[in-house]
Amino acid sequence: MANKRIGVIVGSLRKESFNKKIAHFLIEHAPMGYDLAMIEIGQLALYNQDYDEGDSPAAYQPFREALKSLDAVIFVTPEYNRSVPGVLKNAIDVGSRPYGKNCWDGKPAWVISSSISNLSGFGANHHLRQSLVFLNMPTMQQPEVYLANCQNLFDDDGKLSNADTAKFLQQSLEAFIQFTEKVRV
Ligand SMILES: Cc1cc2nc3c(=O)[nH]c(=O)nc-3n(C[C@H](O)[C@H](O)[C@H](O)COP(=O)(O)O)c2cc1C
Repeated sequence: MANKRIGVIVGSLRKESFNKKIAHFLIEHAPMGYDLAMIEIGQLALYNQDYDEGDSPAAYQPFREALKSLDAVIFVTPEYNRSVPGVLKNAIDVGSRPYGKNCWDGKPAWVISSSISNLSGFGANHHLRQSLVFLNMPTMQQPEVYLANCQNLFDDDGKLSNADTAKFLQQSLEAFIQFTEKVRV
């Protein structure tokens, strides 16, 4: 049987993004039978509803096709001004349209947030969940993953070096795999 495909979407374009490093940790620890792959969002032009009635930016179609091919989605995001970074909200919107062609529909989701403060991206995490309700993405409730002070979790090579966090993320990934098996539509 073919491996299940799980897309990992990061809400930061920053080269040294801590959220990207967390995403890479998950990709490197994909359980047997699952392929985890980064789905890039930085190339997506700002969504404009006019595109739904004519030509849309070239990057939209491959992005939408990539979403449709997925069995589940993991979001790893920072918080910008107590909410979802614009680049991630834009990707959510692009994937949701044209009306009636929601590429996210029915795909199990997991939201991980992190920040360099004690707040751990809680605001972004829950604002993102609000969109996922409307997009009909069953979202894992437990364990919740909020990573505070994420700048302290990595070694000089950018690898996750905090053993407790690594263990927690691996256990949470296993929980998400079980969740996807239960809820996949
Ligand atoms: C525009 C902007 C807004 C931010 N707003 C918040 C915020 O509301 N809460 C927070 O904890 N950190 C905030 N931060 C700090 C981020 O946690 C920090 O920049 C983090 O490293 C971003 O994630 P990244 O490393 O994956 O790029 C903000 C950063 C930027 C650039």
